[in-house]
Amino acid sequence: MKNITYHKSVITQDRRAELMGQHGCVLWFTGLSGSGKSTVACETEKMLYAAGIKTFILDGDNLRFGLNSDLGFSEEDRNENIRRIAETASLMARAGLTVLVSAISPKENQRENARKIISPYAAFVEIYVDAPLDVCAKRDPKGLYKKAAAGEIKEFTGVSSPYEAPEYPDILLKTDEMTVEECAKKVFAYHDFLQNADHVTEVMVNTAVEAGKRILEIYNTGFSVEYKSDSSPLTDADKAADRYINETLAKEFPDFARLSEETADNKKRLENDCCFIIDPLDGTKEFVSRNGEFTVNIGLAHCGRAIGGAVYIPVTGEIYYAFNGRGAFAGKADGSVKIFDPETRISVSDKTEKLTFLCSRSFLDEKTKAIAEKYKDRIEKTVQCGSSIKGCFIAEGKADCYYRFANSYEWDTCAMQAVAECAGGVFLQCDLSPMRYNRKDTLNAKGFLIVNRKENIWTI
Ligand code: ADX
Repeated sequence: MKNITYHKSVITQDRRAELMGQHGCVLWFTGLSGSGKSTVACETEKMLYAAGIKTFILDGDNLRFGLNSDLGFSEEDRNENIRRIAETASLMARAGLTVLVSAISPKENQRENARKIISPYAAFVEIYVDAPLDVCAKRDPKGLYKKAAAGEIKEFTGVSSPYEAPEYPDILLKTDEMTVEECAKKVFAYHDFLQNADHVTEVMVNTAVEAGKRILEIYNTGFSVEYKSDSSPLTDADKAADRYINETLAKEFPDFARLSEETADNKKRLENDCCFIIDPLDGTKEFVSRNGEFTVNIGLAHCGRAIGGAVYIPVTGEIYYAFNGRGAFAGKADGSVKIFDPETRISVSDKTEKLTFLCSRSFLDEKTKAIAEKYKDRIEKTVQCGSSIKGCFIAEGKADCYYRFANSYEWDTCAMQAVAECAGGVFLQCDLSPMRYNRKDTLNAKGFLIVNRKENIWTI
């Protein structure tokens, strides 16, 4: 990339979205040939159109007549096919359209690459159009499975070329069990949920702020400390905040599940696509030692992914929040917070040197020391800070990287992950796999890293 400079438009994406009356979004249908991707995408588009949503379909087959006419079906060509489709979808979504992509996109890394290209600008919704291979082969709408079986088509997906099913799709459509209309309705409903994220975000923000007020009352008047079986501290503030958050969310979103650090785990949550992941008081140690660095975390997971969240710092009155496809925001929570105010948008720094390296107040383990030592030429300063404030600082560009090798739990990271990712940052487990939520076992045993950009992903 030599001698080229990025030229910014005066009209921002926020202003374009306002004029369009909708937020760009990419609905990415993946699945075997004959699984029903294009059929469901078309039916969904009909529903969206009827609801006044501006759409466009990018169909893998159709694009191979034009944009991708020079590409075949080798792995290399498919990578390029998906990259071009993702870049095109990204541009269209930035223009404000809901783009429905229908492409086999057989490999996990191709779809992850598409997500990386699109998600800084718009929600990327991975939809797995799932029909068993034998059903697709029986349907054989284009007669291709027959030809593939006869050896007339090489590298045919599912027959002589692999298809990697998504492990955690944002939407799962079993087209051998559901009608086309049922499938389209499910996609439409999720699209609608994303477009109208203002309400759920506002509830997460206000609930975190209100819980924070309850915590501060106790912080300022004195409290006693109990110790849980794992010897972590517990105070009345944790309990009061937990009660308030659970009651409020249960009333506002009775259909969503909840997982909270301080409430007995109801495993029924595992059957629910949507689950709030709550830490009513993250940094109880900080609370007890009275250094002010504790937060209220309310995250929202959908099908295993952190899609939204609010992190509130009661002592400073700062609120950080984010939602998939809408971005990350920060402000003071005095008075009511104007949700998604473009003026309060935050984003990560673009630094790759002279970095601010964060580390925990409570844990400074050998691995953290080792990574700081290995990359010391890239680090300008090291700052210690508590709780989920770390992820928020990176989201805001006040710091650049945080590595944590010790254990944590889902409620420690969900809200902060949404904020960091929606601000353009990278959040991964230390083995570089994605972090998942609403799992049976809520322990994050692999550690995690948060960095402003992928160039700062380091390994020991
Ligand atoms: S992708 O794998 O690169 O995502 P894409 O969705 O663009 O594929 O194109 C798939 C379409 O091309 C299929 O629906 C089918 O009609 C046609 N096709 C032709 N050859 C193959 C092949 N070897 N494997 C899969 N699809 C093929």
